Amino acid sequence: MELKKYIESNSKRFLDELLDLLRIPSVSADPAYKEEVFTAAEYVKNSLEAAGVDHAEICQTDGYPIVYGEKIIDPAAPTVLVYGHYDVQPADPLNLWDSPPFEPVIKKTANHPNGAIFARGSADDKGQFYMHVKAFEAMLSNGQLNCNVKFMIEGEEEVGSENLDVFVRNNQEKLKADVVLISDTSMISLEHPSVTVGLKGLAYMEVEVTGPNKDLHSGTFGGAVANPINILCKMISSLHDEDNRITIPGFYDNVEDYSEAYRNQLNKAPFDEGDYRKKLDIKETYGEKGYTTIERVGIRPTLDVNGIWGGYIGEGAKTVLPSKANAKISMRLVPNQDHKAIAKLFEEHFKSIAPPAVKVKVVPHHGGQAAVIPTDSIGYKAAEAAIDEAFGKKAIPTREGGSIPITALFQQVLGLDPILLGFGLDTDGIHSPNEHYGVDNYLKGIETIALFFKHYHRLSNKDE
Ligand code: BES
Ligand code: MN
Ligand code: MN
Repeated sequence: MELKKYIESNSKRFLDELLDLLRIPSVSADPAYKEEVFTAAEYVKNSLEAAGVDHAEICQTDGYPIVYGEKIIDPAAPTVLVYGHYDVQPADPLNLWDSPPFEPVIKKTANHPNGAIFARGSADDKGQFYMHVKAFEAMLSNGQLNCNVKFMIEGEEEVGSENLDVFVRNNQEKLKADVVLISDTSMISLEHPSVTVGLKGLAYMEVEVTGPNKDLHSGTFGGAVANPINILCKMISSLHDEDNRITIPGFYDNVEDYSEAYRNQLNKAPFDEGDYRKKLDIKETYGEKGYTTIERVGIRPTLDVNGIWGGYIGEGAKTVLPSKANAKISMRLVPNQDHKAIAKLFEEHFKSIAPPAVKVKVVPHHGGQAAVIPTDSIGYKAAEAAIDEAFGKKAIPTREGGSIPITALFQQVLGLDPILLGFGLDTDGIHSPNEHYGVDNYLKGIETIALFFKHYHRLSNKDE
């Protein structure tokens, strides 16, 4: 096959270009990297131009820019809108990395016997969106591009995509397409290729509990004045009951109970619980009673403390009754749970369970809605056909616990169901130290994406 050969003979350059992009520390959360985030946007624009788009531009926003590029081969042909993000998570804690996060190296691992690229953003999402740039180049160079392509690569996904939300609402004509294609999720493995059909929503809260107006001597005042850390811990532990269900009144009101048949189908996906425990070095999995690990991650809402601080945490022992305690708490939501409504329920409940001895402040951070992707669309069928041709396997539909809030926005505003064709593995360590992305995943992903275009064009025409 022509295309496969092109990818093979250009694989070294395809990798080198990605490594250059990975050297740019485009951390959107940390203002110290502001210049680098803009540099990454330039790099993306240049790479789209080099790959052959008719036109590329950097669209400024109130935050970091959105890189847009398009190639219109025929106004009557179907149009694929590719979404991805060039921003990355902070690399901290740096001391847990085996090699510097912005100096990519390729090393073999048990899961990646042909090597994996170690760098922040390698799997999330630079390595994944760059596959689209290279698939586009491969199709164009071989005279095989048969769909129009629009690229929209943003720089604020890791901080909530607020400006993208505005951009999408204001540019509906420009973004007009037949399908959205996103590679920013995981697959089960190269042996068991899968397509993501569900993502969770998110409501992220920050809380502050205040006791006395200043830090106090913990002997003189301990036992007589409420300790905000003690209280915060009590409040947080009360948010789950003995069955690990969330106790916020109304939290489950709109949560769908799936049929046995649907749950059985989900649980049929290859998953080795023993292997999972071993990789994470845990004796047991833990979660809501009555559900399997696949269900807990994919279809049940969750609540987690992401960080907690307060009091004395320096060397040695300082006896102190602190004035304040804080925590960051996220809730991962399922379809029909509105993130704003849930944030409100959380705030009301959290304030109601605080004893009068403390004051409580609750501040919501970013949020987003969950998404489910129908499997009867041309887009989904094209993804299945592409995986069938590239891997010789039937794609397994999976529901993931991560969130890409913009997915639901594409459905609402553009009326398009995104196809979540991701090639990362859950073990790639996204947001963690030593993030990596398999070289085979990268190259196989490029091939599968090109095949998606081929089949999308074929199935679109058949339908007309
Ligand atoms: N690519 C991830 C989302 C993801 C990860 C989906 C793994 C499926 C599997 C994305 O970049 C991300 O990290 N999203 C954030 C939410 C965002 C609003 C900060 C998340 O899920 O925590
Ligand atoms: Mn991502
Ligand atoms: Mn991410």
